[in-house]
Amino acid sequence: MAEQAGKSGRTSRRTKALSAAVVGVLAVAVAVLWWGFGAGQGSSRRLGAWIDADNAALVALGREVYAAHCAACHGVDLEGEADWRVRKADGSLPAPPHDESGHTWHHADALLFEITRSGGKSVAPAGFPSGMPGFSEALSDREIAASIAFIKSRWPAEIRRRQELISRRQQVAAQAARADPARRPGPDTGLP
Ligand code: HEC
Repeated sequence: MAEQAGKSGRTSRRTKALSAAVVGVLAVAVAVLWWGFGAGQGSSRRLGAWIDADNAALVALGREVYAAHCAACHGVDLEGEADWRVRKADGSLPAPPHDESGHTWHHADALLFEITRSGGKSVAPAGFPSGMPGFSEALSDREIAASIAFIKSRWPAEIRRRQELISRRQQVAAQAARADPARRPGPDTGLP
């Protein structure tokens, strides 16, 4: 009887220690995800770190923003301009498609946000005549994020999954670079 009580005391101590460990691991995982996806940061820059294409309200706003501000160049159906890989006479490139046939999905959310906010020139090599205007004055950061959420919502599941991995890798690299500037990667221009 006494022996049994001792045994169950040990078991419950072990169970308690185990569940404390599980809770600890979960807490760290949640913190990493929270930080990793930029949800915990309020600054406008961080808004571009992870853009949720499953957020119906954001996608609905993005559909309107896209039609009013992006479709004229990138196509009403995200199809881009004809011969979008061929440079124009002035050396600039036509607007590429935003559907899965283009390369928009090869880029992390943070970069797509930055290109849309600050324009193609902000990420292109110096002197490149980018035809992509910046929208920092015409659109709020939420509207910019929404236009990208809408574009992402149009991709097939497999493309969305691959672009999510690219975004997450970029996040991890950006965090490492913040912690140790020597590890800062070279510029990803985001252009072909
Ligand atoms: C006046 C035409 C024009 C408008 C309007 C326009 N774009 Fe662009 N966009 C371009 C061109 C041209 C490029 C090609 C990049 C370059 O040459 O720098 C481009 C490139 C991009 C890229 C980079 C794609 C990649 O794969 O590198 C993104 C993202 C983008 N545009 C998003 C948008 C969004 C979102 C809107 C609306 C809010 C928009 N664009 C409106 C012309 C336009």
